[in-house]
Amino acid sequence: MDYRTLGRTGLRVSLAGLGTGGPARIGQSAGLPEAESHRLIREALDLGINLLDTSPAYGGSEALLGGALAGVPRDRYVLATKFPPYQGKTVKQDPQDLMRSLENSLRVMGVDYIDVLQYHGVRPESYREVVDRFQPVAEEARRQGKIGYIGITETAANDPEHRMLEVALAEGIWDTCMIKHGILNQRAAQRVLPLAEEHGVGVFVMASVRRSLRSAEEALATFHEMEAQGLLQDLAATPEDPLGLGQVGQPVPSVTRAAYQFAAQSQAVSTVLVGTGNIEHLRQNVADILSPGLSQEQMAYLQRTYGHLAWPT
Ligand SMILES: NC(=O)c1ccc[n+]([C@@H]2O[C@H](COP(=O)([O-])OP(=O)(O)OC[C@H]3O[C@@H](n4cnc5c(N)ncnc54)[C@H](OP(=O)(O)O)[C@@H]3O)[C@@H](O)[C@H]2O)c1
Repeated sequence: MDYRTLGRTGLRVSLAGLGTGGPARIGQSAGLPEAESHRLIREALDLGINLLDTSPAYGGSEALLGGALAGVPRDRYVLATKFPPYQGKTVKQDPQDLMRSLENSLRVMGVDYIDVLQYHGVRPESYREVVDRFQPVAEEARRQGKIGYIGITETAANDPEHRMLEVALAEGIWDTCMIKHGILNQRAAQRVLPLAEEHGVGVFVMASVRRSLRSAEEALATFHEMEAQGLLQDLAATPEDPLGLGQVGQPVPSVTRAAYQFAAQSQAVSTVLVGTGNIEHLRQNVADILSPGLSQEQMAYLQRTYGHLAWPT
């Protein structure tokens, strides 16, 4: 495994991180038995993954982590969970909701501290309200030793242009952030990743595959939809080479490999989260992230062809 520094936290985190949300929710969405989700989490640790991302909003993911991590030395992993600040579309009223949510996460996971507590899915229009209401309580939790660092995550579907993070990162108050960044979402490279570097903010990448790049068929369907919307012209995609990378060398063996490798390419990125309920996918994705990356010509091609997109899924 490769490890990178998580911004100003100084924590060393694995370049591949385990995401326990997304479409897979470590197997919950597919009805995977609990013991199999436990096996997946322990396999992640065996593969050298030490960064685990979760949220109370991911069904039973926190409980599954708690079960799988029982007996694992606490210094073997960096645990990142979240505080969901909304009730529906409204910001929760009571600042103490954060403390209650955090204490519940600690109880469910059977740990006595969280390395990184992140505000979950903050929308641009309510960023200020969320920070003003809950940040004093988050700071209190840090003083009490219940959390180490404080981060913020964006909403991939509602804010694909990273409007919230452009404001947030410039304030210099965040230890970490989570962004959607990948072949179909390259805009973070313009403002957000440089801002993160400037302010020492550790970057988690989420959803670089998600529901658009899981297979050649899915990628082709995505590109045809983009073409129909006028977002792509002169489509070079074929079933054998959906990204068109053969035009600048060899096609890559899979779109997921290209997607995760693309996400890992910037040194501003600390960890690329992999969301899966499939142990073979987990092994493959880790191998892909660690294998020799895309060539300069391939990166340039992907930037030229897809760099204008801000695709939400
Ligand atoms: N706002 C937020 O805070 C926020 C939002 C979104 C995500 N996140 C975090 O970021 C993590 C990563 O995002 P994500 O879960 O959307 O992840 P992702 O890794 O981009 O995509 C996950 C999807 O890809 C599939 N997949 C993974 N590897 C595959 C492979 N080798 N071949 C084919 N399909 C593959 C998974 O299904 P299989 O089970 O079949 O592998 C799943 O459906 C989440 O788990 C969560 O922790 C946070």
